[in-house]
Amino acid sequence: MRVRKAVIPAAGLGTRMLPATKTIPKEMLPLLDKPVIQYIVEEAVASGIEDILIVTNRAKSAMDDYFDYHPELEERLKRDHKDAEAKLVRDVANLANIFYVRQKETRGLGHAVWRAKHFVGDEPFAVLLGDDVIRAKNPVLGQVIRAAQKHECSAVGAQEVAPELICKYSSLLVEPLEERTYRVLDMNEKPREDERFSDFAVLGRYVLTPEIFDILENTPPGHGGEIQLTDALGTLAHKKQLCAYNFEGRRFDTGNLKGFLEATIEYALDAPDIGPWLRKYLRERARGLDAE
Ligand code: G1P
Repeated sequence: MRVRKAVIPAAGLGTRMLPATKTIPKEMLPLLDKPVIQYIVEEAVASGIEDILIVTNRAKSAMDDYFDYHPELEERLKRDHKDAEAKLVRDVANLANIFYVRQKETRGLGHAVWRAKHFVGDEPFAVLLGDDVIRAKNPVLGQVIRAAQKHECSAVGAQEVAPELICKYSSLLVEPLEERTYRVLDMNEKPREDERFSDFAVLGRYVLTPEIFDILENTPPGHGGEIQLTDALGTLAHKKQLCAYNFEGRRFDTGNLKGFLEATIEYALDAPDIGPWLRKYLRERARGLDAE
């Protein structure tokens, strides 16, 4: 199984980051000096992906512009002998072959993935959610792809979350297959604590086969009245093998303020140019807070 195409659903309204996301797509908010979506695209590329389809909506053209050339800016930077900056700007546009399709109506993640049917054609593909940034030594999508390849099945990336947080995710009923890999028996979207199968949650990475599109077409609206990818994956798990891979890495939900701030601090602490400064600043600040 070779996985060279990926879909990034990024058509959500970003209602948890208002008013900033009134006009700026949440995927374009900067984590240090790069927008969130660039981390996702870079993870996909580092995992062997060549073609990427971003599912957008009419308020998100800043993303298409970002991955395009910007001749005027590049010329200006070169004229001012800022060649490194000019290269940075150009390299973003050459990261991968990026395509776009619009989700014309907000009808859920399952519907957004379904919009990728023609792009995907007849080969396995990956899905990376546009606001789930995962920091890892080995790119997490690559970890999930290897599990899918080894077991010749569709796979989801998963980790355990606190019981009170499972209501934000898809909860999995699993049985162990081998280290870090499980067979999915069932799953449900955003369950209440007493409805959950387990605290093992799907976290933003999927490797799927094209049969998911037929299933999505026949999946009725579920949680929140939207077409849920989780419901389609549940059907797939009943029909065929679906694996869950407990990936190594730390995932941040950058679609809410707390997750966004955590991601910013973690990436900044390790950044060579500002990491040492931030450590010093945080230490001094913590001392000040203790004294208050
Ligand atoms: C989506 C999915 C959910 C998954 C979560 C985290 O929810 O619907 O199954 O567990 O992402 O990857 P959202 O965060 O878009 O509400």
